[in-house]
Amino acid sequence: MRTQVGIIGSGPSGLLLARLLHLQGIETVILEGRSREYVQGRIRAGVIEQGMANLLREARAGERMDREGLVHEGINIAFDGRLERIDFPTHTNGKVVMVYGQTEITYDLMKAHIDEAGGIAQYESPAIRVEDYHTDSPRILYEQNGEQKELLCDFVAGCDGFHGVARQSIPSDQIKTFQRTYPFGWLGMLSDVPPVRDELVYVNHERGFALCSMRSHTRSRYYIQCTMDDKVENWTDDAFWEELCRRLPPEAAADVTRGPRLEMSITPLHSFVAEPLRFGRLFLAGDAGHIVPPTGAKGLNLAASDIYYLFRALLAYYKEERRDLLERYSEAALRRVWKAVRFSWWYTSLLHKFDDDAMNRRLQISELEYLTSSEAGQTVIAENYVGLPYERFE
Ligand code: FAD
Ligand code: DHB
Repeated sequence: MRTQVGIIGSGPSGLLLARLLHLQGIETVILEGRSREYVQGRIRAGVIEQGMANLLREARAGERMDREGLVHEGINIAFDGRLERIDFPTHTNGKVVMVYGQTEITYDLMKAHIDEAGGIAQYESPAIRVEDYHTDSPRILYEQNGEQKELLCDFVAGCDGFHGVARQSIPSDQIKTFQRTYPFGWLGMLSDVPPVRDELVYVNHERGFALCSMRSHTRSRYYIQCTMDDKVENWTDDAFWEELCRRLPPEAAADVTRGPRLEMSITPLHSFVAEPLRFGRLFLAGDAGHIVPPTGAKGLNLAASDIYYLFRALLAYYKEERRDLLERYSEAALRRVWKAVRFSWWYTSLLHKFDDDAMNRRLQISELEYLTSSEAGQTVIAENYVGLPYERFE
C-alpha cells in the first residue's frame, strides 16, 4: 500500500491531521493499533483552548462543539477554605475556553473523516516500526490479521501517543529526552450528576489536590489526588464522594450531587519532552513527542498546536513545493510545547500536596493568596490557561 502521508495513531492528533490534509486533497492512511470503539470510548481531556477550537472549525468538525460545548469565562481556585475566581476575558483581551470532551472530539473527527469523507483508517493494525525515514520513501511496517504489511509514504506522522513506536524507531543517540515523574496520581470519576459549580474548581487542600470539572450541565468529571500505587478497586463510589467533599470548601461540598460512577480511572502524572520532533521525513506530534501532567488541561491542546504547525508545513510542501516549513516544524512546535510544559509543572506544584512539610504548605497558600489578589498574578494564570498564541507559520 502507498499513500502521501502515513499517520500512526487515531487519537485526536492523527485524526485532526488526516482531516485537515484530506480537505486539501492530500491523501492519508491512518494505522491504529486498537479498535475504533476502544479509541472512541477513552475518557480523557475536557478543556479546549480557542486555538484548538478554531482548528476544529477549520477541519469542518466543530459544529457540534459550537452547539453543545460550554463556553467558560473563568475558573475557581479553592484554598484555605476560600474560593477565588479568575476571570479570563478581563485578563486576556476577551479570550475564553470551551468545555467539550475528548471523546466527543474523537467522535466528531471520525464521523467527518471516515464516515462522511471516506478517509482511510485501518483499526486493529498496530505499527511495528518506521524505516527509511531519512530517504524520500519512508515505510511503516505494521501488522494486520496476523500478517506483517508495509505502508509506503512520502511522510510519516507519528501520532501514536506516549507508548507508540514512532519515537521508539529513532536510535537513542539521535533523540534527547527530558522527563519528570510526580509522586502522585489522579483518581478520576465520571458521573451523570450536575456539576457543583458552573465553572471548574481547582482545589489545594491539606489532604491533597481536587478538581471539579464537567462534560455538560448534567455530567460531571471529578478528580482527587491519590498515591502512585493506589488502585481503582480500592475505591467505592461513596468513598470517592466523601474524600472529594472533605477537600472542598464547606459551602461547595454542601452543593455536591452524588451519583454512581460511569467510569473511574487513575492517571499517573509525568512531564516528558523529546527533542527534536522531526527526523528526516518522520514527524512526532502530540503525546508521541511530549506529555504534561493534566493539571493545566494542556495535553490535548498541545497535540492540536503540533498539528497546526505540521499541517501547514505539509501543505506548503504539496501546494508550493516548499520544504522550509517542514524544516522549521520541530523548533516552532517545541517553543510552544516548552511553555505549556512549564505552566503545567508550575500549576501542578502550586496545587498538589508533595509532602507533610508545614513550611511548604504555607508557601503554597501564600503564593495562591498573592496570585488571586494581584492583577499580574491573575493574568499569569488566565493567559496560560486560555492558551498561549500559535506563531504565524507560513
Ligand atoms: P493519543 O490520544 O494517546 O492517541 C494515540 C493513538 O495511537 C492511540 O489511539 C493509540 O492506541 C495509538 N497507538 C499507539 N501505539 C500504536 C501503534 N504502535 N500503532 C498504531 N497505533 C498506535 N489531557 C488533558 O488536557 N486533560 C486531561 O484530563 C487528560 N487526561 C488524560 C488521561 C489519560 C489516562 C491519558 C493517557 C491522557 C490524558 N490527557 C489529558 C492527555 C490527552 O488526553 C492527550 O494529550 C491526548 O490524547 C493526545 O492526543 P494524541 O492523539 O497525541 O495521543
Ligand atoms: C479536565 C482535566 C484537566 O486536567 C483539567 O485541568 C481540567 C479539566 C477534565 O477532564 O475535565
